[in-house]
Amino acid sequence: MNVLIITASPNVEGLTAACSNAAKAGAEAAGANVVTTNLNKLHIGNCQACGNGWGTCRNEHKCQVQDDFQELHASLSGFDAFVMITPVYWGDLSESAKAFTDRARRCEALKQDKTVFEAKPFMAIAAAGGSGNGLVSCLATMERFLTHVKADKFDLLGITQKSRGYKLDTLYAASKAMISYA
Ligand SMILES: Cc1cc2nc3c(=O)[nH]c(=O)nc-3n(C[C@H](O)[C@H](O)[C@H](O)COP(=O)(O)O)c2cc1C
Repeated sequence: MNVLIITASPNVEGLTAACSNAAKAGAEAAGANVVTTNLNKLHIGNCQACGNGWGTCRNEHKCQVQDDFQELHASLSGFDAFVMITPVYWGDLSESAKAFTDRARRCEALKQDKTVFEAKPFMAIAAAGGSGNGLVSCLATMERFLTHVKADKFDLLGITQKSRGYKLDTLYAASKAMISYA
């Protein structure tokens, strides 16, 4: 069982990183092989809305903007389950998470064949600050992405600086459970 954990924070010691560590430990405890990638360490630019709104994403299911997206996108079919963790910025995904999900959705959502996420368990995590403002809208955006790419929504979890103590334990347990389920 190959699991990809995608993080989208520039902060390598923050809440997103702590969530990634908990999810990794849980998946490994269940016997999974875990790969982690931090979108902020890659060069993945914004969707350029090529042509009149669609580029090669529509029919060829490939993005014509050449950067690190290509390699990451090509690798996704090799994974059986996914965890994506974004910090909550302005009640939304972080910029790097937004760029990745926008482009992945365009390449995957209109496929006649199975998408690279289709029927695979996917856990979406929103890591917020103390206020937790916009936690739900961030999760709602993630939920919409999962719907469009036909992933199996295993869980959607919100975590804040206040809930960190017990939610990291929950995330460990959820990740472990996801591997047994997959
Ligand atoms: C640009 C920016 C916008 C933010 N917006 C929100 C927000 O809307 N709601 C919230 O609860 N926290 C917000 N925060 C706080 C982060 O979500 C919080 O610090 C989170 O832990 C960041 O993840 P990290 O620890 O991985 O850096 C924001 C932080 C930044 C930098």
